[in-house]
Amino acid sequence: PNTGNTAQNTTPTKPNKGGLEGIVAASTAISKVDGTAGRLIYRGYDIHDLARSTSFEEVAHLLWFGHLPNKQELASLRSKLAAERSIPDGVMQTIRALPHTTEPMDALRTAVSAWGANVITGKPTIEQTIALTARFPVFLAAFQRLRHGQEPLESRPELGHAANYLYLLRGEEPKEEHVKGLNSYLVLLSDHGMNASTFTSRIVASTESDIASSIVAALGALKGPLHGGAPSKVQDMLMEIGTVENAESWLREAISGGKKLMGFGHRVYKTTDPRAEELREMARVADPTGFVLARRVEELALSLLDELKPGRRLYTNVEYYSAALMNSVGLSGDLFTPTFAVSRCAGWTAHVLEQVSNNRLIRPEAEYTGPMDLHFVPLNER
Ligand code: ACO
Repeated sequence: PNTGNTAQNTTPTKPNKGGLEGIVAASTAISKVDGTAGRLIYRGYDIHDLARSTSFEEVAHLLWFGHLPNKQELASLRSKLAAERSIPDGVMQTIRALPHTTEPMDALRTAVSAWGANVITGKPTIEQTIALTARFPVFLAAFQRLRHGQEPLESRPELGHAANYLYLLRGEEPKEEHVKGLNSYLVLLSDHGMNASTFTSRIVASTESDIASSIVAALGALKGPLHGGAPSKVQDMLMEIGTVENAESWLREAISGGKKLMGFGHRVYKTTDPRAEELREMARVADPTGFVLARRVEELALSLLDELKPGRRLYTNVEYYSAALMNSVGLSGDLFTPTFAVSRCAGWTAHVLEQVSNNRLIRPEAEYTGPMDLHFVPLNER
């Protein structure tokens, strides 16, 4: 039975390095990551099929309701999302009050918190899920325009989630290939098993807190470079490497010097991340020139990691080609991680709903390693 949070120890295959590696922390019917076969499944469907043939809205429906929508259900969800694309006055005041130097990821986290404070009461519901997911791109685009001295724009109800986001950022009709690329990106990243930010959202939900608090906490977890903060750092790395000729010496020095290469390695995948395969093909088409360097760096890094870090089984993860793809649809580096959040909001909220549908408080234990039985000395004698 799905208890939502049954903690079980699986037999570890190697010495425990901490970080809850190999621990099953929840049961879920939302997505499955098979790190050995390199497969990602959303509610029974292979990610390759979904990335090539569905819209973000179809996948959000799949994650939230458990099945792919028919035409009528899809139209209904699209119109509900479109109806929620407004910013309440209290939230807009908070967004306007932020310094223009604020990182968009921090602005998004603040806006979600302000939205919760202004409108949310009670237990998480599907209506709140739709209302929040609809607003992620709206909050982000509003802040991004304000910090560049432009007024936020009104959403266009006839546009889908990806197209409306691009429109709100630029104020012009987005190109079809940009909408298609961003949509596939949003599908690919919308859920991923018990990753750090999803686990965070479930922990908060398990205390019977509200949906905004769960998602604010998840945004905090996603922000770090070991999770969703890597793609702009991949871009920095490629810019620093600069040329194909420079790649081998740069990578050798970095790996030998103990540097972690951004966009490589994964806790669960011990083979290529299937999302990276999709994004690689999309990046090849979208930016053939930039792709030459990225691909060469990937090939060299994989062989050098194999040589210098034998047995670690390090491959490219989803973040490596995310940067190239987002660049090609015209998103700036500071929007890479919050755009990841625009996608993952669908998965986080699905997990919050799953958690509260069959809840038990998530409360693990710690192994105490401090001293015992110390003699207590009162303050004026210390
Ligand atoms: N570059 C070089 N070496 C690496 C890398 C890397 N990117 N990743 C892991 N290693 C090495 C470690 O140094 C370690 O070597 P050691 O045994 O000599 O100490 C070994 O491989 C195991 O690494 P851990 O850090 O224990 O692996 P863990 O499962 O904890 O980390 C993580 C996974 C955080 C993704 C890691 O691979 C990493 O830091 N990658 C770079 C950041 C990144 O790309 N993050 C995005 C992840 S994808 C996502 O969250 C959407």
